[in-house]
Amino acid sequence: MIPQSVQRPFLLRDPEHFKVAFEINPWMSTKDQPDPDKTRQEWNDLALNLMKAGGTVHSAPSDPDWPDMVFPTDTAIVSGGKFLISRFSTKDRHGEARLGADWLSRNGWTEIPSTDWPEGAYLEGGDVLAFGDKLLGGYGVRTTREAHQGLAKAFGREVVPVKLVDPRFYHLDMSVCPLDDRRAIVSPDAWDEASRKRLHDLIEEPLVVSVEEAMTFCVNSVVIGKTIVMSDCPARVGRQLEAWGFELLISPVGEFIKAGGGIRCMTLDLDLCGETTKEL
Ligand code: ARG
Repeated sequence: MIPQSVQRPFLLRDPEHFKVAFEINPWMSTKDQPDPDKTRQEWNDLALNLMKAGGTVHSAPSDPDWPDMVFPTDTAIVSGGKFLISRFSTKDRHGEARLGADWLSRNGWTEIPSTDWPEGAYLEGGDVLAFGDKLLGGYGVRTTREAHQGLAKAFGREVVPVKLVDPRFYHLDMSVCPLDDRRAIVSPDAWDEASRKRLHDLIEEPLVVSVEEAMTFCVNSVVIGKTIVMSDCPARVGRQLEAWGFELLISPVGEFIKAGGGIRCMTLDLDLCGETTKEL
């Protein structure tokens, strides 16, 4: 049963121009290109599954100059009708931020000025998650810790820093998936010791997954109420989630994983902290 009361808005970017054009994470190989038909099928299925789960899906074209644009989560942090534009750490993606901001502004979101960020600070949306009344901020691979101050100020929320130490899990959304304000799927091997302690204190009931389990991208999922849209689910993880009362919608995105991105990366949450439900 899909709860009809849950309406969460997301933005997907059309995969027409998606390809592995460079190698900026250990998953990417320019010798292993996504198959266009499979890519389209997976993307269509994902949009349908998000809607089935109670999400409102907005889609927009992508730009041929930016082949990673199918991962719009990284372009901005959006919540309560406002957004903070990302500052990409790689030249291969930096142009996506302004294109993302243009779409958000045109569709009624207000840009939060980010001019007081220190030089050399980077912030990518995949490193920001909401948990309870706080934000979790990944840093160490793409995002820099200096960016957390501006992030906290922009949304008036404490940012709990999580240092990422495994290049395979280079964004925080590959090792943490908040389920509600007490529970989360977590892969602590991706963090340093101090961050493990911080999240251990914060998350009342963690579902701890191994590195092998996290390699399925099961952590990189989208949660809408009691429904989880997931690319692939290790049996043990599925049993625990079902025991907690979650329903799983499996939506494979193997072609996108060739670029190191999964469902959460493909799905920009247009109200990260669940403050408003914005109707376009
Ligand atoms: N190829 C993209 C990159 O390396 C994948 C983005 C994944 N995004 C995420 N939120 N984990 O930037």
